[in-house]
Amino acid sequence: MNLIPKLSKPAQVEPDSGIVKVAMHGFTKQGIIAFWSGEGNLPTPELFSKAASESLHKGETFYTFQGGIPELRQALARYHTRHYGRAFDADNFFVTSGGMPAIQTALQMIVADGDEIIIPTPAWPNYAGALRIQGARPVEVPMTFQNGKWALDLDQLFAATTARTKAICLNSPSNPLGWVATKDDLIAVRDFCRKHGIWILGDEVYSHFYFGADGKTRAPSFLDICDSEEQLMLCNTFSKNWAMTGWRVGWIQAPKILGPVIERVVQYNTSGTPVFLQRGCVVALDEGDEFIKLQVGKARKNRNTVIEALKGFPQLRLSVPEGAFYAFFGIDGMKDSMATALRIIDEANVGFAPGAAFGAAGEGFLRMCYLKEEHKLAEGLDRFSNWLKNNRPT
Ligand SMILES: Cc1ncc(COP(=O)(O)O)c(C=O)c1O
Repeated sequence: MNLIPKLSKPAQVEPDSGIVKVAMHGFTKQGIIAFWSGEGNLPTPELFSKAASESLHKGETFYTFQGGIPELRQALARYHTRHYGRAFDADNFFVTSGGMPAIQTALQMIVADGDEIIIPTPAWPNYAGALRIQGARPVEVPMTFQNGKWALDLDQLFAATTARTKAICLNSPSNPLGWVATKDDLIAVRDFCRKHGIWILGDEVYSHFYFGADGKTRAPSFLDICDSEEQLMLCNTFSKNWAMTGWRVGWIQAPKILGPVIERVVQYNTSGTPVFLQRGCVVALDEGDEFIKLQVGKARKNRNTVIEALKGFPQLRLSVPEGAFYAFFGIDGMKDSMATALRIIDEANVGFAPGAAFGAAGEGFLRMCYLKEEHKLAEGLDRFSNWLKNNRPT
């Protein structure tokens, strides 16, 4: 019996993630070097894992606070105070079971059927997917690649809003572009959202992965220019900074008044995040700065390696990423990034994510996550360079 038509319409029609499709194709290939997923190669530092396993062994295995254990919320406030140079309050932080659930929870509070959220693209596809699953509509505003750089036209961004617009979603540093919003961009978005009473949905999960010319150790942030109690929700995760993608712990930073609502929504989604995982996260926040530095240093070095290896190919369009840990490059003549990504897996044993997975504006590009072991990065770039010398894209 075909049970698919019995499902809700959004669940029936939502396409697979293009990243997952490529990963499924290449996953079992002997000797594949995979750059398709958004994570580094290092496992979680032992120090954080030890705290989690001690808690587990101690029997911290019961239901818990919907908004997160007080110790973790306090650690989040300490961490932000340290990195953003002003006081933060534990009551503005709400723990979720990952960055994705943070976004999903935020969306469930903001949108209903037919509502719209503005998203500059190419963008991480999960915002659009989560929105559509809820019957809401992502409105893509294409960024453009000009003179070797990605650019966001703010007038175009604001012109895309309608009476149904509930939020502008901004991810900076950007996955997949490595583009970073300037402080002025953020101020313009803040002022527009304030004026029109719509939400800022910020995603700054890569804020430490910043290689800007100003030499600062993190990217410009809405936290530099916004009040904690204004119409702003920031979604974040332990996944990237602390190499904890598999833990599935994240947080929402939001006005305190939303506390009871967020906790209700968490109750009906995950009913809270395991206490033992949260214990490991406290240690990550309090003692993980050195590890972040190590990861960012490696990302910077690898970014330079990628640029050096690819800059000589005239058929490539490549911006020098200012943040995150991705290279997003176009190949002249590429019409179908999915078909090309699948071919590169089969023909060169290297895996990239297809640009089209990040919205229509990403077609013609491929994304490479370069936070990998040096020798694998070198070998992967070698294989890809050879492929480029002998092949044309699809
Ligand atoms: C921009 C961005 N935001 C949020 C996330 C969510 O992270 P996670 O669900 O792994 O915690 C990711 C993961 O790739 C991301 O790239």
